[in-house]
Amino acid sequence: MSKKPIIVFEGIEGSGKSHHITAVSKYLSKKKISHIKIREPGGNSNSEKIRRLILNNKSDFNKNTDLLLYLAARSENINIIKKSYKKKIILIDRFTDSTIAYQHFGMGVDFNLIKTLNNFLLQKIKVDFTFLNLVNKKNLHSRLKKRKSLNRYDKFDMSFYNKVQKGFVKLSNLKKRKYQLVNSNLDIRKNEELVLRRIDQLIK
Ligand code: TMP
Repeated sequence: MSKKPIIVFEGIEGSGKSHHITAVSKYLSKKKISHIKIREPGGNSNSEKIRRLILNNKSDFNKNTDLLLYLAARSENINIIKKSYKKKIILIDRFTDSTIAYQHFGMGVDFNLIKTLNNFLLQKIKVDFTFLNLVNKKNLHSRLKKRKSLNRYDKFDMSFYNKVQKGFVKLSNLKKRKYQLVNSNLDIRKNEELVLRRIDQLIK
C-alpha cells in the first residue's frame, strides 16, 4: 500500500464517520504529516454548490438526477485528489461506496451504471483503505433527533438507512482486507484509539 494512501470514511447518518475523520486529521496535523481532508458531496467551491443543491430540503430530484449530481460533485473533487495523489495522505468523508450504497442499494439505480461512471471519473485513482462506521437503529434514531437541522437526505425512513447500511457491509465483504469496521454503538474513545492505531499501520 502507498505510504500516502487514500483513506475513506463511510457509513450512514449518525455513524460517527465525520468524528473519526476529524480526529485522524488532527492526529496527522499534530505529527506534522501532510495530508488533505475533503468531503463528498462537497470539496471545492463548485462541488459545495452542488452539495447545497442536492441536500436542500426544497429539492425534489429523481434518483437518476441525484446520482448525476453526486457524480458531478465528485468530478470536481477529482482535480483536488489528482493534485495530491501519492504525494499526500488523502482523507475523504464519503466516496464511491456511498454512491453504490445510497443510489444502488438504497434507491435501486443500476449497479453497473454506477460502477462504470465511477471508473470513468476515477481512472487510475484507487482507494487504499476504508473505515466503515456502523450504527444500530436506536442510536441512528436518537442521533438524528439531536441534529439542529435536517437536510433532504436525513429524512428517509429507517428501512432506507437499513438497506443502505447493509449495502455498505456487502461492499466491505468483497474486499475485507481493505476495510475496518467500526461499531459506533460502542465507546467513542475506544473506537478513536482503534482508528488511530490502524492509521499508524497504514502510513508507516
Ligand atoms: P453527509 O451528511 O455525510 O455529508 O452526506 C450527505 C448525504 O449524501 C448523505 O445522506 C449520503 C448522501 N450521498 C449519496 O447519497 N451518494 C453519494 O455518492 C454521496 C457522496 C453521498
